[in-house]
Amino acid sequence: MPRLTIRDVQKMKDNGERITMLTAYDAMSARIAEAAGVPLILVGDTLGMVVQGHESTIPVKLEHIIYHAEIVTRVTQTPLVVGDMPFMTATTNAEKTLENAARLMQEAGVSCVKLEGGAFIAPTIKALVQAGIPVMAHIGLTPQSVQQFGGFRVQGREFDSALQLIHDADAVQAAGAFAVVLELVPAPLAKLITERLKIPTIGIGAGRYCDGQVQVFHDILTLFTAFLPRHAKRYVDAGGIMQSAVNQYVQEVKSGKFPTDDHSFKMDDTIIQKLREEL
Ligand code: KIV
Repeated sequence: MPRLTIRDVQKMKDNGERITMLTAYDAMSARIAEAAGVPLILVGDTLGMVVQGHESTIPVKLEHIIYHAEIVTRVTQTPLVVGDMPFMTATTNAEKTLENAARLMQEAGVSCVKLEGGAFIAPTIKALVQAGIPVMAHIGLTPQSVQQFGGFRVQGREFDSALQLIHDADAVQAAGAFAVVLELVPAPLAKLITERLKIPTIGIGAGRYCDGQVQVFHDILTLFTAFLPRHAKRYVDAGGIMQSAVNQYVQEVKSGKFPTDDHSFKMDDTIIQKLREEL
């Protein structure tokens, strides 16, 4: 099966098919996502928090996304791979943004890029799309601006901020974005935006009425435990299972229970005997 395209993603909305997007950063997470039938994989700058151990996504560099995205595109065949544009790599400077997006496409092999921002970044989105680079927009709580927002807060609860978000959604669609992530937006507002837009909305903390959902791999598997965002659901305590397995390994090495003959290799006793005599 060929890799999904942005046209397939639009068809999913048009056919009322719910869209799943999941982050992946390495061969293991990408293979698990593909095996589960995830159509869109996002190599997100959340890797700064869940892989690199930072407190925000701000320290992530373009080179980091390229490194991880190249792995994800190499080991997957069918999902559409979205490369995130990290802090200050997608700005109102369209020329610089084009250069950065081109690197993600050429060096990492992603099919499209995601960038944060609404109406103010629409001219940049337009320039990318005109250059042949598909863009997924990202509005609402845009984590790269967490310092400006003063924390990870729900956006658009008041009339003016809700209206601004609607303008942002309209602007990124008009600029040519093929989809838009709505992050931390009240569910009724996300519903209104989803009904209004022709392009798919992909929600994270934006309720059930979006055309699709995106989650962070490490959140849904409990591999990241510093905190659990309210919008995330833990499907398994994989981190807990891994911790107890490693604890057991440590105990078994200490006690001599591991390794057994089953994990060892044999050789002819006479050779060992000869070696002992020789020494
Ligand atoms: O970087 C990321 O993983 C994201 C999602 C949370 C939407 O932007």
